[in-house]
Amino acid sequence: MKYTVYSLFPQLLKPWTEEALLGRAVREGHISFDLRDLRDHASGKHRNVDDTPYGGGAGMVIRVDIAAKALDEVLASEPPPDEIILLSPAGEPLSQALVEELAKKKHLCLLAGRYEGFDARVESLVTREISIGDYVLMGGEIAVLTIIEATARLLPGVLGDVDSHLQDSFSTGLLDYPEYTRPAEFRGLGIPEVLSSGHHANIAHWRRQQALKRTFERRPDLLKNAKLSDEDRAFLATLDSQAETKQREK
Ligand code: ADE
Repeated sequence: MKYTVYSLFPQLLKPWTEEALLGRAVREGHISFDLRDLRDHASGKHRNVDDTPYGGGAGMVIRVDIAAKALDEVLASEPPPDEIILLSPAGEPLSQALVEELAKKKHLCLLAGRYEGFDARVESLVTREISIGDYVLMGGEIAVLTIIEATARLLPGVLGDVDSHLQDSFSTGLLDYPEYTRPAEFRGLGIPEVLSSGHHANIAHWRRQQALKRTFERRPDLLKNAKLSDEDRAFLATLDSQAETKQREK
């Protein structure tokens, strides 16, 4: 996978691509980055990329002609991008399903805004507009990194353990089950007995129930789309009636 990123602060992104798992993935040739400065496409003495908004109001808007020059350059590159993604709070919400779809591509071009965002005509130059959540950041760089982090870890060879993402929160449609490691006793808190039983079937069963319980308690909205067995549904029904009983006792 190749990631081409356009930003006004590409140097903010660079260290992220050089360390830890992403850095290793680059060195091992699983992914590559081309971090570009939008300002390279600005002309004039001050290399301005933005201007005041038509109609007045606060802030500055990034010019469409600057973005177009940058995108013309990436479209002429080899391989051309499969997607050109504008990061903005007005975009489609990022989800694990969307991450999985993007991770199948060979070349993603990611466009990070600053100030009051891009001239709305930039939307005609991109294939998608994505938001990482219902809050406003000062720029799109963290949103770009979020897409990179979430997609890269799904690529073969990037995570040490090939299967380790298959059980993640959201990949199963549920939140993850809780994990524990040494020490077995910490400030009066122990670990669930089943985990040191060595009984793999019981451990798997306990983990599934914990994932269901966490999702039921913390993100019941996810249960609508999760893949559930009859046994899962029966377990959820007991959680539901326990919750109802507790509610009545209050
Ligand atoms: N830029 C600023 N806020 C953002 C958000 N929530 N998602 C994507 N890009 C952004």
